[in-house]
This record gives sequence, C-alpha cells and structure tokens, in this order.
Amino acid sequence: MIIAQITDPHIRAGGRLAYRKVDTAAGLKACVAHLNALKPMPDVVVMSGDLTDFGTLDEYAVARPILDELSMPYFVVPGNHDERGAMRQSFADHGYMPPSGFVNYAIEDYSVRLVGLDTVVADKPYGEMCRERLEWLDTCLRQEPDKPTLMFMHHPPFITGIRHMDWQNCRNNDVLGDIVARHKQVQMILCGHVHRAIEKSWAGTIASIGPSPCHAVALDLSECKNPAFTLEPPSCRLVYLNDDNCLIGHLSYIGEFGGPYPFFNADGTLID
Ligand SMILES: [Fe+2]
Repeated sequence: MIIAQITDPHIRAGGRLAYRKVDTAAGLKACVAHLNALKPMPDVVVMSGDLTDFGTLDEYAVARPILDELSMPYFVVPGNHDERGAMRQSFADHGYMPPSGFVNYAIEDYSVRLVGLDTVVADKPYGEMCRERLEWLDTCLRQEPDKPTLMFMHHPPFITGIRHMDWQNCRNNDVLGDIVARHKQVQMILCGHVHRAIEKSWAGTIASIGPSPCHAVALDLSECKNPAFTLEPPSCRLVYLNDDNCLIGHLSYIGEFGGPYPFFNADGTLID
C-alpha cells in the first residue's frame, strides 16, 4: 500500500498568485498529475491542510475540481489558512466529513488506518489539540490497537529550528505526545504548515512535515528576522507499507529531471 501526502497548496481564486508570486493552482495540478502517473500509483491521498490561502468558498471552488482529478480517494483536514465551515461545506459529500464540530475521523478501509486530526484554532496561526479533541483521539486509537496507523494533521507537534514557524506549531504537544506514546500502533504522523520535508523522532513514533507542491518556507535556521519563501523544486511525500507492516517515508519530486537511466548493461555488468 502507498499513501501520498499533499499539503499546503494555498489555492487562490480568480487566477490570483499567492503572495503575488506563486501560481498555486498550477502547482497543485502538477502534483495531482504526478501522483496519477506514478507506477505503482498511490492507493490513497491525505491532504493535511492549507488547501486554500484565505479559506473562502470561491477558493475551495477552485481547489476541489483539481483534487477531484486524483485517480484515487483523498481525505482532507483543515489548516490555519482554511476555514472549517467553508471546507466542510465544500466537501459535504465526502462521507468521512463530520457534519459539525471538529474535522476528526478515522478511515478503516485500508491496510493502514488513517486518522485525520483537526488542529485548527479559529483565526489563529498556531494549532492546538483541546481536551475534546484529545479525548476523541485517545478513544479512537483504543479501538484498533494492533492495526498500523498513520495520523495526519496540519500543525506539527515539534520544534523545527525555523523560528518564525515554530511559535505557530501545535501548542499542547506534550499532552498529545502522552497519548500517542501510549498507542504503539501509530507508526507515523504526517503534518504540514512548514512547507518543507522535516522529520523527528517524537513520542515513540516518527513525526514528519511534508513539502508543499507550490512554495517552500525558506530554510533559515538563524534568528530569521525576515520570514520568506522560495520556489525550490516541488515534491510530495509518499509512505510505503512494506511486507512487515512497517511504514516507510519517501519524497517524490514533481517535474522532469532526466532518467531513469539504467545502471547495468544487458549482460548484467555495471555500465562503465
Ligand atoms: Fe501553509
């Protein structure tokens, strides 16, 4: 089984460029085409938030048809740039979408259990798992203690070293970590928000951040007085379930880079 992660495309409406620079709809379209063309194709896609830039219905009206081009099912949770109500309305026909409250759910249809978490605090850039959401998660994870589980959520629960983003991470991550650590079946947590590929051993599992298919937060590990973005080669994360029921994370770059070229001659010798 292969799970792909799309995160942080920040779709604008009316053909506007994000930050007057980034054609985010084109970036998301390229990502969707890339995933559809992969061999083997991912079985499912999780979208970990910031689907839109301002959370308006007209932005979702642009984003939704692009995601609908995916050849496989996809599941969305909100990020801080989304608006929970507008997202819910725009994906009301998605069977997993709760009709009210937080957008938390578990998908039971695959060899890997997919648990989507809503970390959004309305009108704030940072995230939080409040008591209600923590209780929901603990109950959810108790239901399937032995099935490989992948959680996905927007705000990372760890510090990255990119300071202007770190103050906006998932704030009560210590309590969340206590719950995750008790449930050993959680093999991986896929996050967004920082627009870069980042990984950390956290709470007995691996927490990672996925890159955006559009723009990257600049890799600045200094005091970072001037938050900025770059247009690095876009990529997306792929998670592979191997025969030992272990999840393994990869990055897949979106674009034409040459190759694949063979290592070996027809007779099996290494090309000299
Ligand atoms: Fe974002």
